[in-house]
Amino acid sequence: MIKITEDLRLKKILISDAEVLYALMKTVYPTAYSHFWEDEGNWYINSQYSKENLKQELLEENSSYYFICYKNEIIGNLRIIWDKTLEGLSEEKQMKLHRLYLHEKTQGKGFGKKILNWLEEKAKEKDYKIIWLDAMDEQPQAFQFYKKLGYQYHSHTFLPFELLHDKVRKMSQVYKLLKS
Ligand SMILES: CC(C)(COP(=O)(O)OP(=O)(O)OC[C@H]1O[C@@H](n2cnc3c(N)ncnc32)[C@H](O)[C@@H]1OP(=O)(O)O)[C@@H](O)C(=O)NCCC(=O)NCCS
Repeated sequence: MIKITEDLRLKKILISDAEVLYALMKTVYPTAYSHFWEDEGNWYINSQYSKENLKQELLEENSSYYFICYKNEIIGNLRIIWDKTLEGLSEEKQMKLHRLYLHEKTQGKGFGKKILNWLEEKAKEKDYKIIWLDAMDEQPQAFQFYKKLGYQYHSHTFLPFELLHDKVRKMSQVYKLLKS
């Protein structure tokens, strides 16, 4: 268990947590993204949070996957891939923030910021120079959040998933240079 504050902690996700993770994301993901999809995101949730995919993700080298817990209740997830570089960025040591989701009832209370501040400190201790991530342009909540925390635009792509509505396909890669 990693302590970010007395009440906010990170708990490592294990393969035996597959059902708990699925149930969590079946609640958390649609509140933010169901309107992006023709099927309200069911296909995406089923593929990203299947036991098989969790197994692959846990096996991925240099990755860390956690439940976010507040007062012992699971309220979200966080996945990091250390040593993952973003094409076109030349800084040596880079890491990717792969996922950060908080339950709707816990959003806007400063938890996301505390988690990213913790992550930036961890990254600096390990001598990383850049944190980067993918953010959907049409999700202003996430986009504004990262902008506020100092992340800058680097590049963008368009997601190819068949069930995604065309107008929300744009995904930007944003990054932050970590100052020592
Ligand atoms: C995006 C998310 C991680 C942000 O975490 P959060 O705990 O809600 O955000 P915080 O309360 O820590 O906000 C931090 C700062 O961002 C700003 N911010 C947050 N949401 C914002 C919004 N919708 N518009 C403008 N600013 C916003 C806050 O005002 C705050 O600024 P301050 O420090 O000056 O007060 C969280 O809301 C979430 O999980 N959303 C749904 C899923 C999602 O989109 N995840 C991202 C996938 S990459």
